[in-house]
Amino acid sequence: MAVPRVTDATLFAVSDLHVGHPENRRIVERLRSESDADWLIVCGDVGDTLADIEWALSLLAERFATVIWVPGNHDLWTLPEDRTGLRGERRYRYLVEACRRVGVITPEDPYPVWDGRGGPVTIAPLFLLYDYSFGLNIAPTKEAALARAHAAGVVCGDEFLLHPDPYPSREAWCHARVGETERRLAACAREVPTILVNHFPLLEEPTRVLWHPEFAQWCGTSLTADWHRRFRSTAVVYGHLHIPRTTWHDGVRFEEVSLGYPREWARRGPRSREVPRRILPAQR
Ligand SMILES: [Fe+2]
Ligand SMILES: [Fe+2]
Repeated sequence: MAVPRVTDATLFAVSDLHVGHPENRRIVERLRSESDADWLIVCGDVGDTLADIEWALSLLAERFATVIWVPGNHDLWTLPEDRTGLRGERRYRYLVEACRRVGVITPEDPYPVWDGRGGPVTIAPLFLLYDYSFGLNIAPTKEAALARAHAAGVVCGDEFLLHPDPYPSREAWCHARVGETERRLAACAREVPTILVNHFPLLEEPTRVLWHPEFAQWCGTSLTADWHRRFRSTAVVYGHLHIPRTTWHDGVRFEEVSLGYPREWARRGPRSREVPRRILPAQR
């Protein structure tokens, strides 16, 4: 078998495939690499059920030399009809094992180094969740922000479906993940830049364009506001907002790489369903 040529390889990324929607499923079925050496980052919200998530990741693992996955909030939902009863940390660990069965890299694995064009770069898949701190955009306290969201009828499904077990709250789970991840990133080789990959934006700024500002509280944590500088990022890749775009913060490229729901990409026009998006080599 021919060895893939890393010198021609491209690092791609995509997020929020939401394959429970038949139109999105068809997009995933058609999604292919350009060369045998290409890598793909899958930035969470693959689907709402374990079967959908495992279907998509195993298909993509056959088509790319390396696939890297981080969980989105939807991937961690336990729907009422779910017969496994897997909740919270146990559900996350189940998905990590499912990824390992098909060779997909998760936040629990050693961070891989991209040696293709634009490398070397350490790619760090992160699972950090959120702690409601972005809710201070609409109210002086987290409790008041949550109350305002309920009053406005803009409440993330996570409140009912994303269980934090065994942690007492999603906020506590987030803080445990942030502490553990910060130690791992601090131990990475300082001479190699990073690409930080997380379902939620690491900064609050990208959430300021949300149609419903009440939703920002489910979008990240202020604890990661300086990570792109501290951990020498050449790019940050995220999804969750369903607002695909490139922004720059402190000279660092932030890529929101969502596909999103069919009603969203249909409204944005044909180019927005062109996934995956190229991360390295960088577009000029
Ligand atoms: Fe999503
Ligand atoms: Fe999400």
